Amino acid sequence: MTTTVKRAYNLNAGPSALPLEVLQKAQEELVDFKGAGMSVMEMSHRSKEYDEVHTEAIARLKKLFAIPDNYEVLFLQGGASLQFTMLAMNFLKEGQTASYVQTGSWSEKAFKEAKLLGDAKIIASSKDNNYKNIPTFDELTFSKEDAYVHITSNNTIFGTEWADFPDTGDVPLIADMSSDILSRPVDISKFAMIYAGAQKNLGPSGVTVVIIRKDFLETAADNIPTMLKYKTHAEKNSLYNTPPTFGIYMLGEVLKWVEAQGGVEAIAKRNKEKAALIYNVIDRSEGFYIGHAVEDSRSLMNITFRVADEDLEKQFFSGSERSRFCRTRRSPFSRRMSCIYIQCRTCRNV
Ligand SMILES: Cc1ncc(COP(=O)(O)O)c(C=O)c1O
Repeated sequence: MTTTVKRAYNLNAGPSALPLEVLQKAQEELVDFKGAGMSVMEMSHRSKEYDEVHTEAIARLKKLFAIPDNYEVLFLQGGASLQFTMLAMNFLKEGQTASYVQTGSWSEKAFKEAKLLGDAKIIASSKDNNYKNIPTFDELTFSKEDAYVHITSNNTIFGTEWADFPDTGDVPLIADMSSDILSRPVDISKFAMIYAGAQKNLGPSGVTVVIIRKDFLETAADNIPTMLKYKTHAEKNSLYNTPPTFGIYMLGEVLKWVEAQGGVEAIAKRNKEKAALIYNVIDRSEGFYIGHAVEDSRSLMNITFRVADEDLEKQFFSGSERSRFCRTRRSPFSRRMSCIYIQCRTCRNV
């Protein structure tokens, strides 16, 4: 299908741009999904047609992201923000402490929720450095008795990303991968649980992906509300209640698109190239642009910088807003901490 659609250079952090091919396929199938005479949105989540969509999306994510067999993939709702709560509700037990690495506003929020529910501590933080860096592994002073160690693999607003992940031994490692899931190959076996809101790298908002190791899942608390229990959703293949069917369908289509691009390795290569283009401009600008993250903590997903001259920075924003074809955002922080951030999508055709 040839297209004459005028698409914006959508650099929004999330929800973010989806591949045009995926949007067009969804458009084609919107009112009549595979001859069913109805949209995926109108179908029963117990129907044979939807079951195929659901099962395929799980299988495809497992294959693409090399998720071992001893992990469950769940499709939940409530965004990554509800995971901040569910994680602590399910796994932070009386007498235990959960360790959090503070690398930005999302990890602050995750920690805040855990504190409401139990004993949680910050074991390392880059807050004093305006979240410009990721702490080193040596700084992660967790204890062997901890309920878990929580990290945010990519800090959307500050533009920092863990280049590698620590080995926490028998202490379960949990990662909020909302803004870099599927952007690069990951050794899933290092993690007890990974979660991500879909709207940045995987599809539209409304679906939250949870990848959880089965033996870790077994240790989850039982005395919590049904819908907030991971076990409920794992036992029912994420069909305990009505899942966000259209979002899961879209996620499946994005995964097919990633597969067609050559998989996660190919996407990672492309991400490196895309990010290098922008970082090179920043680095060669002789102080015209000022990058936020220190070099070894730079994100390949979110590139954050300032224009040194504040008047020119205002022009940068007004120019991009006027053109309507380059969507950038000012970080929602105080002037001192603010930076421009450009989302350099995992699997988006930006
Ligand atoms: C790293 C990270 N974690 C969590 C969230 C919150 O996600 P949600 O809006 O799905 O609750 C975001 C959202 O932007 C994010 O970037």
